Amino acid sequence: MKVLVTGATGNVGSAVVAELLKQGAQVRALTRKADVAKKFPATVEVVLGDLLDPVSVEQAMQGVDKLFLVNAVTADELTQALITFGLARRLKLKHMTYLSVFKVEQFRDVPHFASKLAVENALREFGVPHTILRPGYYIQNDATLKAALTGPGIYPMPIGTAGIAAVDIRDIAEAGAISLTTDGHDGQTYDLVGPTLINGPGNAEIWGKLLGKNIEYTGHNFDQWEQTMRGKVPAWMAFDLRMMFQGYFDRGFASTETEVTRITKLLGHAPRSYEQFAADTVQLWKSEVSTSHELVTA
Ligand SMILES: NC(=O)c1ccc[n+]([C@@H]2O[C@H](COP(=O)([O-])OP(=O)(O)OC[C@H]3O[C@@H](n4cnc5c(N)ncnc54)[C@H](OP(=O)(O)O)[C@@H]3O)[C@@H](O)[C@H]2O)c1
Repeated sequence: MKVLVTGATGNVGSAVVAELLKQGAQVRALTRKADVAKKFPATVEVVLGDLLDPVSVEQAMQGVDKLFLVNAVTADELTQALITFGLARRLKLKHMTYLSVFKVEQFRDVPHFASKLAVENALREFGVPHTILRPGYYIQNDATLKAALTGPGIYPMPIGTAGIAAVDIRDIAEAGAISLTTDGHDGQTYDLVGPTLINGPGNAEIWGKLLGKNIEYTGHNFDQWEQTMRGKVPAWMAFDLRMMFQGYFDRGFASTETEVTRITKLLGHAPRSYEQFAADTVQLWKSEVSTSHELVTA
């Protein structure tokens, strides 16, 4: 059984490729970059393609049985997704697993959530055999905070104080591989969440204990946050992400025990925790320090 994985060089797609290989599936990885083939295991077939180019996508789908579709957050995300969906339908792929997002229907004012809801609706309306994965906030987002945490000692993600659902990407990848390599997942929608909720002050405390220093949660001034983000990402993306975080703050993004129980059953083990990820990450940073002396822990 051969699976085409989009976004295969990204956070989720690369983990899904690894998990599918573990389950014995054949994998074809789609990328726009000609020079990345050597980054994949030799057994992975790498194919060049752009989700905005239907000809390349159709070629990439020839001879595959199933599809794992993850789209990057781009201004044309919906077009990319519907091109891929439309071709999967036309070529009668046996199954597609689509990476959506937790509570998608409650955030229709957030552009990248609205795109995903439209894709979910198309999957259901047009009868393509499918599984929908709805992950919460990626725990691994916070691996990017090394400079902020170890330098000025701030936790800058405006995730609020109420508690939001967060999930480890390795659990997303396992769920994706399970949906594509075992039976019984057609038409299913799985919420992918961790064992506990995370919040800004709580995460600051977790990192503070691990690093042995005071970490301050910088709060949730969304105007200021969007302005700062405009210096780092395109303005439309800063707006989109601000709408998302403000939505979490205003409407909540919390998971329930029922959702934790369901993912535990799907994975066959408890979902991985934020605390464990943070502890592992600090260990990694410390091992890097022994050569570079960059980590300030005092
Ligand atoms: N971060 C979170 O907390 C979170 C939570 C829930 C859901 N999500 C969703 O997760 C998705 C992002 O996943 P990720 O973090 O794995 O993404 P990522 O690491 O940013 O990777 C994006 C991938 O998309 C590919 N790509 C971009 N434009 C493309 C195009 N035109 N044609 C073909 N491939 C293209 C890139 O491949 P090449 O450059 O190799 O072509 C890359 O592999 C988004 O849909 C986001 O909404 C994120």
